Amino acid sequence: MKTYKIAVLAGDGIGPEVMAVGLDVLAATSKRFGFEIVHEEFAVGGVAIDLFDDALPESTLKGCREAEAIFFGSIGGPKWETLPPHKQPERAALLPLRKYFGLYANLRPAKCYPGLLYASPLKTENIPDGFDLLVVRELTGGLYFGQPKHTIAIENGERAIDTMIYETREIERITHVAFKAAGLRRKRVTLIDKANVLETSQLWRKTVKAIAPQYPDIALDFMYVDNAAMQLVRKPQQFDVMLCENLFGDIISDEAAATVGSLGLLPSASLADGTFGLYEPSGGSAPDIAGKGIANPIAQILSAALMLRYSFGENEAASAIEQAVEATLADGARTADLARPGDASLSTVQMGQQIISRI
Ligand code: IPM
Ligand code: MN
Repeated sequence: MKTYKIAVLAGDGIGPEVMAVGLDVLAATSKRFGFEIVHEEFAVGGVAIDLFDDALPESTLKGCREAEAIFFGSIGGPKWETLPPHKQPERAALLPLRKYFGLYANLRPAKCYPGLLYASPLKTENIPDGFDLLVVRELTGGLYFGQPKHTIAIENGERAIDTMIYETREIERITHVAFKAAGLRRKRVTLIDKANVLETSQLWRKTVKAIAPQYPDIALDFMYVDNAAMQLVRKPQQFDVMLCENLFGDIISDEAAATVGSLGLLPSASLADGTFGLYEPSGGSAPDIAGKGIANPIAQILSAALMLRYSFGENEAASAIEQAVEATLADGARTADLARPGDASLSTVQMGQQIISRI
């Protein structure tokens, strides 16, 4: 039997609760489709700071190196917010993990299901059929990692500097990811940039345009990021794949998520060259509801589906999970984040059971 080895980093807040359900779904799916997933758990984020005084301990990195994929929960919370910024879980664990494993391609699908239009803050009449878009975000370059990056004292205060750098090669590899993803969807890529102001955006346009002829069936267009932010709340259904540099993708993907209505629905994949990847819900650790057993496990479950597809090539199993989620929602199952007044709301575990029963 085929066996896949994964590192499980459940993290903080609702991470462990939704992770437990995600692992149950993986177990049920692998049984049904005839493969095996072995997993080992490692500390990351706030829990790792508490245990090891390090948000990303060497033991966790080692566990991830020895695995074929990382299944990630969420990190951070009020307990660690007073630490200096470079020690906080998000910056001290997530960014180094991305860089260390070369996870340059971040896929963030945002899908608003027709039965859940009411959850979207947009007017239902503006999105009669829902929408389904994919943010492809460059994840290891740009302002997040460019050097110099520091703050120095000057005469009248301080001077802080971040540096936006991109090289052709970095743009090329993420562009291929975007075009390939579009080929499996509605065959349109929109490059989100600020080419009227930024040098880096001009290099993005030039590089993406040069690659486009290799994908003759994909339509390519360009949109300034300020306009894209506006178009997303006016008519999100106009987008298929939104290709973004790191910071633009950070902002646009949160906006796309808000447009769907619940962060609890959105998975993400962060991919390296080859098959290694990190899979995590797009939402955060939601400390306000942690420990109550009411968090929506769907983002974690759909992240498991992405892992099966992109790291293990188990496409049928991945689709089975996605279809089970869709059917469960269509049948009216709702966690608290999706419930309307009067709707019964399911617990995290109950939602997981509903989905498992449809796989
Ligand atoms: C995200 C998060 C991170 C980012 C933070 C926590 C560093 O917002 O994954 O989108 O900015 O990339
Ligand atoms: Mn973000």
